[in-house]
Amino acid sequence: MKINSIKTRVILNSAGAKTIETKVTLSDGSFGVASVPGGISKGKSEVTSIEPIESAKRVGEISEKLTSREFDSQKEFDSFLIELDGTSDKSNLGGNTMLSLSVAFCKACAKAEGLETYQYIHNIHNPEKLLSEAKFFMPRMMMLILEGGLHGSGGATIQEFMAIVETIDRGVEIYKSVKNELHKLGQSTNVGAEGAFSPDGYDNEQILSLLNGYLHGEKIALDIAASSFSEAGWELPDYDVILGNYPVESIEDQYGEDDWANWELFAREKLSNMKNKLMIVTDDLTTTNPAILEKAIAREVGNAIVVKPNQIGTVSETLQVIKMAQNSTWKVVISHRGTDTNDDFIADLAIGSGAEFVKFGAPARGERVAKYNRLTEIIG
Ligand code: PGA
Ligand code: ZN
Repeated sequence: MKINSIKTRVILNSAGAKTIETKVTLSDGSFGVASVPGGISKGKSEVTSIEPIESAKRVGEISEKLTSREFDSQKEFDSFLIELDGTSDKSNLGGNTMLSLSVAFCKACAKAEGLETYQYIHNIHNPEKLLSEAKFFMPRMMMLILEGGLHGSGGATIQEFMAIVETIDRGVEIYKSVKNELHKLGQSTNVGAEGAFSPDGYDNEQILSLLNGYLHGEKIALDIAASSFSEAGWELPDYDVILGNYPVESIEDQYGEDDWANWELFAREKLSNMKNKLMIVTDDLTTTNPAILEKAIAREVGNAIVVKPNQIGTVSETLQVIKMAQNSTWKVVISHRGTDTNDDFIADLAIGSGAEFVKFGAPARGERVAKYNRLTEIIG
């Protein structure tokens, strides 16, 4: 593939802050547009983002290098970006700059081959399996209903209270029931960063029992986001109480990102019983980083990983992490970010790579809904 032109511009994200959008146009006229989300509770090992205005400048500086040669594959393009950047944390070009280029290139190449983005991703991810024989499926959705911690405004310290649903309709039903209940109780139904409710004065257990009251056999997924607790001066929840009293299938970042010893102990205890199907999900701990995931798998600290492309900065490295997880029978949860855009690439990423789960926020707010709508556009 030969790139004809690249343009990066500054746009607003869902929090009214600046981020970037990049358009890559290939010599045959096919183009891809990608924009970059941002985190509110970021992991320390995420790649470095640079100021959006700097990103746009950087792209201007390197665009001749990118347009003056052929790239035969996504891998080749991403490797070239990594080489141009030359740092271990992508702080020279900026992880955000690199991701926007990488995703825009991916979308453009898909178009050039007459494929949908998820099909193109399938071909990169599973080259041994013919596209015509591939079976694409709807991931299970960890749908956000209530939020607390740094994402919310009420009293709960746990960041995300999610219902694991098989269909968007069922998630919407739970979301609406909780909304009606809060309304009846005279509570605000204003929503937090990711579109979920954040009732005032509710602690973690009160939120859990509110949510549990509207489940019809569905299970709960929690993102504790424990790394933000110490700075905020909060105590970690009592996990035995929570797991003992509520139908929790999945728990994410239940200890801080430096607390490997507690991660190990927790996983050893919870996973030793084969009947216990708890998913222990790493996010801030692994930051979509292949080297850290390798360590996490070796130390058996969990059995599932959150994948956020902007934590690592290129499509190829993101797919590498997904492959590593899949080869180790770790489950994959493709995730949005606290401040996001209308880009729906991660829906294609989830379906194209065969991820079992997605985490796209509440079924409200345009930037969240865009991703759910893309899932149904692909799978129906
Ligand atoms: P963030 O949080 O995108 O605000 O960092 C989402 C998560 O922790 O999963
Ligand atoms: Zn998380």
